[in-house]
Amino acid sequence: MKDLDAWRAVMAALEDYHQARPEMDMRQAFAIDDDRFETFSIDLDDLLFDYSKCAVDEATMEQLVRLADAMGVGELRDSMFAGDPINLTEKRAVLHTALRAPKNAEFTVGGTNVMGEVHDVLDRMSRFSQKVRSGEHKGATGEAITDIVNIGIGGSDLGPAMVTAALAPYHDGPRTHFVSNVDGADIADTLARLDPKSTLFIVASKTFTTIETMTNARTARDWLTGALGEEATSSHFAAVSTALEKVADFGIAEENIFGFWDWVGGRYSVWSAIGLPVMLAVGPQNFRAFLDGAHAMDEHFRQADPRRNMPMIFGLIGWWHRVICGYTSRAVIPYEQRLARLPAYLQQLDMESNGKGVQRNGRPALTETGPVVWGEPGTNGQHAFFQLLHQGTDIIPVEFVLSARGHEPELRRHHELLLANGLAQAEALMRGRTFDEALEQAYEAGLTEEQASHLAPHRVFPGDRPSITLLHDQLTPFALGRLIALYEHRVFVEGALFGINSFDQWGVELGKELATALLSVLRTGEGIEERDGSTAALLKRVRSAANA
Ligand code: F6P
Repeated sequence: MKDLDAWRAVMAALEDYHQARPEMDMRQAFAIDDDRFETFSIDLDDLLFDYSKCAVDEATMEQLVRLADAMGVGELRDSMFAGDPINLTEKRAVLHTALRAPKNAEFTVGGTNVMGEVHDVLDRMSRFSQKVRSGEHKGATGEAITDIVNIGIGGSDLGPAMVTAALAPYHDGPRTHFVSNVDGADIADTLARLDPKSTLFIVASKTFTTIETMTNARTARDWLTGALGEEATSSHFAAVSTALEKVADFGIAEENIFGFWDWVGGRYSVWSAIGLPVMLAVGPQNFRAFLDGAHAMDEHFRQADPRRNMPMIFGLIGWWHRVICGYTSRAVIPYEQRLARLPAYLQQLDMESNGKGVQRNGRPALTETGPVVWGEPGTNGQHAFFQLLHQGTDIIPVEFVLSARGHEPELRRHHELLLANGLAQAEALMRGRTFDEALEQAYEAGLTEEQASHLAPHRVFPGDRPSITLLHDQLTPFALGRLIALYEHRVFVEGALFGINSFDQWGVELGKELATALLSVLRTGEGIEERDGSTAALLKRVRSAANA
């Protein structure tokens, strides 16, 4: 918090403003202002960010920009780019932006420019990828690699899994598979489809201690060595981690180990060697384009004036919806089947970053913090939960992600239908349908007066439901990198507005600790009675059913 008094003044102004006019008639707002779209949208090359369907006006935006100033968002952003240890509880810099910068850029941690190391690892990844992709890298029996299995979880899974699925049209390398869950079904179903002779495993773990990943990695190693012998590990395993000694202890050959740094958070790590499966699938050039797209957004975030700064405005609108309007969740709906994993990816990015209850100084948060993030691709979501978005009693802001062009020119009519649906949903949420309109439609359909007045209330849509549309030309590697970086910086802005540390994740610890303790109770039965009544009864039931 830079200026508490200024913050209080802006908060009071925004709250009064919202109280005085709880709902804004969006149809009316567009009708009286021909320039509304221009005023409340931002372009960055072919990426358009349209927030004109959110209930804000110039006065709101002015106050919101003041709020960002009072909270010192710009200063915190500059500290992040400067490599200051803004992750206070872990005393770490937050420099995922360095991973996508060109070689001649300067990013320093503790006075040392890290760009040399960053590009060394990228170069090693490129050489390794080329060898695997060309077939020069052979498995233990001399066969080329046809399948890659990434074993990781959270940030060591969601990023590469989401990105490889999104970039399917660019795949010209080995097939990629992702195993994350400690549920043995995950690895069993994956391995059942594979031949050990042509499979390469990547064990991806920042800490190399995560129980799910280490359990799956050991199972994979047993499967491989059971078929091909102990020596096979060196040509069938690679690893990505910051804990290089632990990786060596696992038995992975030095030339197949790719490092990264503690200043890269797990959920921000797809740009590092954690992106290796992406590079193997789409090649180093496409991976570079993905990094370049993110870098373009970094530069925009760094330099653009707050009022025309896409991540800044995205964050401010998100904060406005969460704190002033009180909306507890938001939906992300990519009208792009290949972005099916985007909502899951954003759940970690957003909820692990901003699901906190204390400020950076350890005091309770001053306002509500991060909302629930969820979603599914359109048009599928339309046939599942859109009913609630349109007519439910909660207002849930929606973020539509659209590409003007698909990758299947021969299926153009599919893409036209897809886009028409996405745009129509945003329009319907905003416009709604009044009682009179519903009545009129019923009469037009030939209903009697009694039938029409009975049906009309059910066919009313309240409207004025906010949505943001993100539209780019095509989901290329560059566009995807830019989109993900936009979301990263939006989460940063919101975290700064909440006054919290977006870069630690202590909230995942307690469950992990209890799971470790419960494992031996589950196995031996000792200590069941010391648990609470519910947990004890569940343990007993599991033990008797498992042993039946
Ligand atoms: O869920 C907690 C978490 O620490 C995430 O932040 C991280 O992405 C994930 O676990 C995996 O951690 P690691 O890469 O160290 O295995």
